Amino acid sequence: MKCRICGAPAFVKLAAHNTTFCAEHFDAFFLRQVRRTIERFGMLEPDRPVVVAVSGGKDSLAVTHALSRLGYPVEALHIDLGIATGGFSAASLEITEKFCRQNGIVLHLYSLEEEFGRGVEALERGRRPFRSRSICSLCGMTKRHIMNEVALARGAAAVATGHNLDDMATALLANVLRWDGFYLAKTLPVLASEHGFARKVKPLALLSEEEILAYCRLHGIARVEGRCPFARDAKFLRYKALLNDIEQHSPGTKRAFYEGYLGYASLFRDHRQGRSGAPRPCGVCGLPTSSEVCTFCRLWRGAAPAAKPEEG
Ligand code: AMP
Ligand code: FES
Ligand code: ZN
Ligand code: ZN
Repeated sequence: MKCRICGAPAFVKLAAHNTTFCAEHFDAFFLRQVRRTIERFGMLEPDRPVVVAVSGGKDSLAVTHALSRLGYPVEALHIDLGIATGGFSAASLEITEKFCRQNGIVLHLYSLEEEFGRGVEALERGRRPFRSRSICSLCGMTKRHIMNEVALARGAAAVATGHNLDDMATALLANVLRWDGFYLAKTLPVLASEHGFARKVKPLALLSEEEILAYCRLHGIARVEGRCPFARDAKFLRYKALLNDIEQHSPGTKRAFYEGYLGYASLFRDHRQGRSGAPRPCGVCGLPTSSEVCTFCRLWRGAAPAAKPEEG
C-alpha cells in the first residue's frame, strides 16, 4: 500500500475516503479537516481562549493537540469525577496532567470531591435527589454545567469537546428513530452562545474514531485505557455497533448520514427552545436553568427551590 499523494509506504488506509496516506500526508489531512470544520461552522476566534474539556480519552487529547498545533489559545479543563472503581478517575487525571505538561498546555482542574466533599461514585451509594436518573445522566449534566461555568469565567470563545463523527452519527440515529425535534435541532457541531450558555463546539465532529486513533498513534498520544465502571447507555452502544456494521459494508455511510443531516438541520430550528421555555438564572449559581434552582445546585449543593408562598 502506498500513499495516494507521494507514493511512500502507507501509514493508514481510510476506507471511508477510499484512500491511503503516508504519516506526513495523513497528518496534513487530519489538521486540514479540523481547520475546515472550525472555519465552516465559525467555531473559534484566534485571539480568545478556547476551553477544551479533556477527559484523558483519545478524542479530547487529540482535539487539544490539534487545536494547539493550529495556533488556538487552548486551555484544558479536566473534571475529576471522583470515580475510584478501577482507579478510573486517578488514571484519567494522571494521563491528562502528563499530556498537558508535555505539550505546554494550561490545565484547569475541577475536583468534585474538593468542591463538594463527594464525587460521582458517592452518588450511587448515598441518598440523593433524582433517583430515577442514571448516574451517567447525572454525571453528564454535572460535566456540562462545570464546562459552561469555567468557559464563562475564562471569557472563552467556546468550550470544545472531543465528540467525533461516530458520536454524532450515533446520536443522530437515536434522535431520528424517535423524531425528537428538540435534540434534532441540537445534534450540531456548534451550539451558539445564548441565554447565558457558552458556545459549545465539536471540532472533531467530521473525523471518525478510526482517524482519531490513527492521529494518536502517529503522535504517540497515550490515553486512558480503562473505562468508566458506570456502563454507558446500552442502547447508544447498540446503535453505534449497528452503524459500524453498515459502515463496514458501505464505507462512507456514517459521514454521508451526518452530512445529510447538516443540510437539513435548519428545518428543526424552531424546536430548539424545547419544552420548558427560555432559561432563566439559577437562584443559587446564576447559570441558566429552566427551574428556580438548577439541577447541578440541587444535586451537589443540596439547594432546594424556595417554598411557594401559601395561597389563599
Ligand atoms: P463522553 O460523554 O464521556 O463521551 O465525553 C464526551 C466529551 O466530554 C469528551 O470528549 C471530553 O471533551 C468531555 N469530557 C468527558 N469527561 C470529562 C472529564 N472528566 N473532564 C473534562 N472533560 C470531559
Ligand atoms: Fe460519568 Fe461514566 S464518566 S458516569
Ligand atoms: Zn505521502
Ligand atoms: Zn445553579
